[in-house]
Amino acid sequence: MRSQLRCPPLRCPPLSRCPAAQRGPDVSPMRLTRCQAALAAAITLNLLVLFYVSWLQHQPRAARGRGPRRAAATGPRVTVLVREFEAFDNAVPELVDSFLQQDPAQPVVVVADTLPYPPLALPRVPNVRLALLQPALDRPAAAARPETYVATEFVAVVPDGTRAETPGQLERMVEALRLGGARLVAAPVATANPARCLALNVSLREWTARYGPAPAAPRCDALDGDAVVLLRARDLFNLSAPLARPVGTSLFLQTALRGWQVQLLPLRFAAARQPPLATAHARWKAEREGRARRAALLRALGVRLVSWEGGRLEWFGCSKETTRCFGTVVGDTPSYLYEGRWTPPCCLRALRETARYVVGVLEAAGVRYWLEGGSLLGAARHGDIIPWDYDVDLGIYLEDVGSCEQLRGAEAGSVVDERGFVWEKAVEGDFFRVQYSESNHLHVDLWPFYPRNGVMTKDTWLDHRQDVEFPEHFLQPLVPLSFAGFVAQAPNNYRRFLELKFGPGVIENPEYPNPALLSLPGSS
Ligand SMILES: *[C@@H]1O[C@H](CO)[C@@H](O)[C@H](O)[C@H]1NC(C)=O
Ligand SMILES: *[C@@H]1O[C@H](CO)[C@@H](O)[C@H](O)[C@H]1NC(C)=O
Repeated sequence: MRSQLRCPPLRCPPLSRCPAAQRGPDVSPMRLTRCQAALAAAITLNLLVLFYVSWLQHQPRAARGRGPRRAAATGPRVTVLVREFEAFDNAVPELVDSFLQQDPAQPVVVVADTLPYPPLALPRVPNVRLALLQPALDRPAAAARPETYVATEFVAVVPDGTRAETPGQLERMVEALRLGGARLVAAPVATANPARCLALNVSLREWTARYGPAPAAPRCDALDGDAVVLLRARDLFNLSAPLARPVGTSLFLQTALRGWQVQLLPLRFAAARQPPLATAHARWKAEREGRARRAALLRALGVRLVSWEGGRLEWFGCSKETTRCFGTVVGDTPSYLYEGRWTPPCCLRALRETARYVVGVLEAAGVRYWLEGGSLLGAARHGDIIPWDYDVDLGIYLEDVGSCEQLRGAEAGSVVDERGFVWEKAVEGDFFRVQYSESNHLHVDLWPFYPRNGVMTKDTWLDHRQDVEFPEHFLQPLVPLSFAGFVAQAPNNYRRFLELKFGPGVIENPEYPNPALLSLPGSS
């Protein structure tokens, strides 16, 4: 293009003979010769053409850069965000093509942790982009953040296997979101597993997510199944883990915790013509990876127990094979209390199981025992372990120790019994400890007392307020008391027993184990 312009032949006289030049610095611009003017005009024209060509070439990129304003004014208001798909078998190209058919300018972001393999056959148009979340040495940090790729006000999170066939669905969802008052709106996808509405309570303190029937459907807390979910981009990217997988699980755990609701709309997206995961093997592989991802997600978000409508429970915490899920307790105040949480549900379950087992062994051997300390307090309050307690305490008659094989064994050293429980003499003093397993040190402590002049006493004492002598008449007789899902023996008149040990009003006024370090929020 530049060659179209030819500079006229230079006809100016040599500069030295120019009278204007001889007059030195006060030369006036008005004194240009015609020739010089023609040259300047040619150069200016040339530059203009250059700028125009360059502007044409940069037009699409410049428009992308101004994305938000342009999109708000004229273009799509929704970015289609594809996160939930398997790299090894998916229908993402069909999904993307179907949205581009509705609107060739539709912004689409496909999000993966690492470059999908085999490669995704995505259309090579500037409004379809691939975002890789895993940081890479040669890319800026912003490249690993999906919000970098979203310039629209709304985002539609679209699962693999979806196909856009009806024009204007996304716009209709935007209108429903703006008018309806729910923080999210959703449209089911006509797959084998279309979305349905669920109630969801998330309790961080109890490490628990409880799903149930949705009383106000089609508005609810969570969805189960395939749906296109639309929300404001600023809401999505203000979540703690906006695109953690599985998206269906992670999104609604976070939104339900914030009290945001989702409105299931009477719209429907079509299913892919060539659905993903069509073979049994692909489904098996996807399910296996999905389970692993889900377990990792729940652990990362601090959810250890999922309870489903109908009562099915899923545990994601510690077991006999793992270590205990909290470390050594310092100052009677376990680490989770400082995080505003109570005993993880798996630990409470393991403690209940150990307590029931130990009580069974003691009863079979004829060892007289009773609920002690915090365990008796929990039984008196609500028939269970105190929700932030980290062990179980039982008192036993010292003279009965010999009648229990496991305790005799523990006198000599550590014994692992046939059920995997570990019986041993505690290193901290003259008492016994039964651990849940060799690796998981959740435990029941057994405190041997002996009577002396009508008073129950022992030889070593811990620095605890409740670790004191008490009249034997509290044990004559022992009384049954519900505890941790079974019936255990307790001191008679256990209210007075507890007030003797802990102080008046202890049953009615719950406190953390060491209020000097950390006090129960809301207690006086
Ligand atoms: C969620 O909590 C509310 C209020 O405590 C309760 O009424 C509802 O039944 C709970 N729903 C589920 C699914 O647990
Ligand atoms: C993001 O969330 C925090 C609370 O988690 C809230 O205070 C803030 O206003 C939110 N920001 C936007 C842009 O919504």
